[in-house]
Amino acid sequence: MNILVLGSGGREHTFAYKIAQSHRCESLFVAPGNAGTSQIATNVAIAVTDFDAIAAFAIDKNIEMIVVGPEDPLVNGIYDYFKAKDKLKHIAVIGPSKAGATLEGSKERAKEFMMAHGIPTAAYQSFTAQTLEQGQAFLETLQPPYVLKADGLAAGKGVLILDDLNTAKEELATMLQGKFGAASTTVVIEEFLDGIELSVFVLTDGKNYKILPTAKDYKRIGEGDKGLNTGGMGAISPVPFADASFMQKIEDEIVKPTIDGLAKEAIAYTGFVFIGLIKVGDAPKVIEYNVRMGDPETEVVLPRIKTDLVEVFEAVAQQKLDTQELAIDSRAATTVMVVSGGYPEAYEKGKIISGLEAVGDALIFHAGTKEKEGEIVTSGGRVLAVTSFDDDFKQALKKSYQTIEKLHFDRMNFRKDIGFDL
Ligand code: AMP
Ligand code: GLY
Repeated sequence: MNILVLGSGGREHTFAYKIAQSHRCESLFVAPGNAGTSQIATNVAIAVTDFDAIAAFAIDKNIEMIVVGPEDPLVNGIYDYFKAKDKLKHIAVIGPSKAGATLEGSKERAKEFMMAHGIPTAAYQSFTAQTLEQGQAFLETLQPPYVLKADGLAAGKGVLILDDLNTAKEELATMLQGKFGAASTTVVIEEFLDGIELSVFVLTDGKNYKILPTAKDYKRIGEGDKGLNTGGMGAISPVPFADASFMQKIEDEIVKPTIDGLAKEAIAYTGFVFIGLIKVGDAPKVIEYNVRMGDPETEVVLPRIKTDLVEVFEAVAQQKLDTQELAIDSRAATTVMVVSGGYPEAYEKGKIISGLEAVGDALIFHAGTKEKEGEIVTSGGRVLAVTSFDDDFKQALKKSYQTIEKLHFDRMNFRKDIGFDL
């Protein structure tokens, strides 16, 4: 079949890499893609939220499956758009309906869902400009640090963790006055959870599910997890401390109630649930849901899946995921993000990348690259994700770092301590 992947980052290059290997895939397109995806698929210059253009392209090229990378088209209802039209509804959309995507699109909605279905999470209350004073009074009842979350999508910047009560009260006011635009019209204030983070990825057809390999990403720009938040500077899979008994707890207390909750609420969901967790003592608690794969977690999770990914997605679309086996590579995978100097603040683009030919046995997924006059140049903050495997994640990391030594572009930067806390 002909398949279209939506997105342009390392996550989408990884999807394209796995899909291109499938015997079920005839022609593969990526919109808009990057210089990496163009080596294994055909890039198409269509924006991920331009549903009319995506639909016209899908009809023209006889696309039978659309795999949605980022959250924006999901939150904007791409699934519902395709399912509502006679000419489009036969196309499998790998991603949840708009109702399902509210789990990521609204933090307040996600909290209400967790409460309704008994899923462990931090205690919380939510506030609007009309209830600012109650919000500030609620902060006084909490212990620091204070966690303030913009309700809506804020490009990963909408969460503030503050040590000082007065600063927290002021920030609450600023957020409710529109610090993050419409995304912070409602602010969720929640209890701080002290523990170590990990992510669990679940693929579901709305009633059956498969738990994918766990991963842990490293979000801060600086070593020792210091400095500004980024989209993610590296990741490791599996997470060594997520042993069988902890995973069983996660499945029983979080994954099952989440999928059952979606089914009870009659929400169409054919896609990924990314569950951000904190391990508090022995207890897993949900800090957030995302309705797509993580980036750079995808760059370690998908390469560990040995089963044909398109067959798995077909089972999802047909709501037969229970009949599908999922084979996982037992080796560890690591990915290290190579980023532009200055990122996550201002950085320059258009730097020529060299060394891509001599990568050895690492996989290089392009995150922010494009082709220009026959060269591959940087076009984003996160530029390349370098993925390696070995029996032990430390050995795998060594391979990623050895590969990075061969790569070069002006002001290239990366973290040398991925996995430092494991
Ligand atoms: P989120 O966008 O909800 O994933 O939040 C961003 C980051 O803030 C998370 O990855 C955590 O590191 C941190 N965080 C969010 N909520 C909490 C919480 N209740 N307690 C501690 N840390 C949190
Ligand atoms: N790496 C975190 C995310 O994709 O949201």
